[in-house]
Amino acid sequence: MKRTLITETPKLVGEKVTLKGWVDSSRGHGKITFMDLRDKTGIVQCVYAGKMKDVTVESVLEIQGVIQARPENMVNKEMETGTVEIEIESFKVLNKSEPIPIPVQGDGYDVNEEMRLKYRYVDMRRERMAKNMRLRSKFAQSIRNALYEQDFIEVETPLLTQATMEGARDFVVPSRMYPGKFYSLPQSPQQYKQILMSGGIDRYFQLARCLRDENLRADRGFEFTQVDLEVSYTTRDEIMELLETVIKKAVKEVGGKLQKENFPVYTYDQAIKEFGEDKFDLRSEEEKKDGTLAFAWVVDFPFFKEVDIDDAAEVRDGKSGWTFTHNPFSMPKEEHLEWHMEKKNIGKILTTQYDLVCNGWEAGGGSIRAHRPEILRKTYEIMGYGEKEIEANIGHMLRAFELGTPPHGGIAFGFDRLVAILAGETSIKEVIPFPMTYKGNTAVMEAPTEISKEQLQELGLIVEGSEEAAPEKVVGERLRDKVLALLEKSGKEYDHAVHEPTPTSEDSAATRGTRMEEGIKALILKGKKSGENYQFNVPAHAKVDMKKVKAVVGEACEFEKPEVIEKKYKVIIGGVPPFGSIMNLPTYFEKTILDEERAAFNCGVQTESVIMNSKDLVDIVKPELVDVLKA
Ligand code: AMO
Repeated sequence: MKRTLITETPKLVGEKVTLKGWVDSSRGHGKITFMDLRDKTGIVQCVYAGKMKDVTVESVLEIQGVIQARPENMVNKEMETGTVEIEIESFKVLNKSEPIPIPVQGDGYDVNEEMRLKYRYVDMRRERMAKNMRLRSKFAQSIRNALYEQDFIEVETPLLTQATMEGARDFVVPSRMYPGKFYSLPQSPQQYKQILMSGGIDRYFQLARCLRDENLRADRGFEFTQVDLEVSYTTRDEIMELLETVIKKAVKEVGGKLQKENFPVYTYDQAIKEFGEDKFDLRSEEEKKDGTLAFAWVVDFPFFKEVDIDDAAEVRDGKSGWTFTHNPFSMPKEEHLEWHMEKKNIGKILTTQYDLVCNGWEAGGGSIRAHRPEILRKTYEIMGYGEKEIEANIGHMLRAFELGTPPHGGIAFGFDRLVAILAGETSIKEVIPFPMTYKGNTAVMEAPTEISKEQLQELGLIVEGSEEAAPEKVVGERLRDKVLALLEKSGKEYDHAVHEPTPTSEDSAATRGTRMEEGIKALILKGKKSGENYQFNVPAHAKVDMKKVKAVVGEACEFEKPEVIEKKYKVIIGGVPPFGSIMNLPTYFEKTILDEERAAFNCGVQTESVIMNSKDLVDIVKPELVDVLKA
């Protein structure tokens, strides 16, 4: 039978329905059980003539029953469904709940935050949170609609990217393909959205995820969402008007109350004089209680400020002792462009920046951009960047600005912050589905976590203080430990011998008491085109045909230089084991290795060897078997 939603029940008196939801509470009265069932729409009282087995609080049930009108004197005026009651005929426990770790009833403010976030999926069932999630979605929809009406298109921009300065630290992601190099997660889509203007998008917006490694507070998360937009051929006043239109429409659509239809505008100086800061609260005490939104603009900010030496990001960004106050990509105000270009009166240069404040929070900010390369270059020169650093940081922007970029400007506002204000919450965490704890741990899951040694190695990373970070006494010992650990784990038999150094294959055979044919020579080759390394393992007495090697890997190869091998793989020639996979190398075995029953090889250092069954070795290493010997 089709599922009926709980709020529909008062209209369906007398009908037999199927309801699905959680057990909000239940109490037995002798042979009768009273139970409140809850779904996303509401709660309804149900009765069952009998004991309800396995019906614990927060279990998920499917019930079938008849909707009965309650007698006049039994109507519960506090419940939306207070006029009815469900007489359960049958029920099914779809998922039985263990005792729940946090209560679902109540607003949850007094419940421990770490518990609320660890069990966010339980926390989210509470009415307040469910409402917040819906408000968030509805507000996003309203904003999108308002922007589409204004001819905007939504465009996504990359998450793995190069750093954009927004005044915070970057989160970085190590690259596997380029060990030692990193992507930065975007602090905002600033650069890409400007480049979209170069690309002719004209009116861009995005509900963009931004990532900033900054100190967490009630109005700040590591991850947050911006409503980000950028417009070609625009002016400051046009953007301010446009954003006002969009915000007013969307706020009203979700039932928000605005203090003023036209947002008042303050200059930065006025704001400081009047309120002592540039984020201020214009609400009266009365308006604070009734959830009014008091928006205002702040304009005419100084472009630059002196670096605060306690702020790591500022110290990094501002090399001359000057750094930007809001956004390095802004255009200075027209009347100060000359100072800017001559690097005069730096502290007095005003920027085209405009900030939106709401109820004491910085709600948004944007500016008209420096779309001519010489102006942007000058901004970086003022911050003390040399030619090379400018090129490395924003060379791509300067290039775009040399190739026909329309004048443009834009703004971004904090989506989480506005939803929090609309919901009457004091922290953005209350309106973010899975926010981090104040200690920076993810909700439900436990990131940040350690990653495996293999992952670290693949990424070319060594963690300070780890075993890998300690200097090796003898080069190759660490590799030897890995080889021996792998052999031990395999459960196969092997002999491990310690001996005099054996730099050549002849030395090895004599010292180990094996025949030359049983020895394995582990060669590290380098592709002439790709620069990639490959490991070829061949019988010690054999000669390799480089033409056959070329046919195997698809490019001509040469021997990798000993100093490169030592630096890259921490092993010296003569000690290289036939375990290319441990060194993340594509690994090949000359197939005649399997003609011998035994295989003998150095296991990482010149003074230690392993002798074992050659088939076992191939089973463990899992190389590609090839024919690369000279005929
Ligand atoms: P800005 O850095 O001012 O500007 O960011 C815009 C708005 O995003 C919100 N915000 C945050 N919300 C939650 N947690 C955070 N850590 C956080 N940081 C910022 C604020 C802020 O006003 N690229 C420019 C915009 C532009 O010039 O177009 C930018 O990101 O509400």
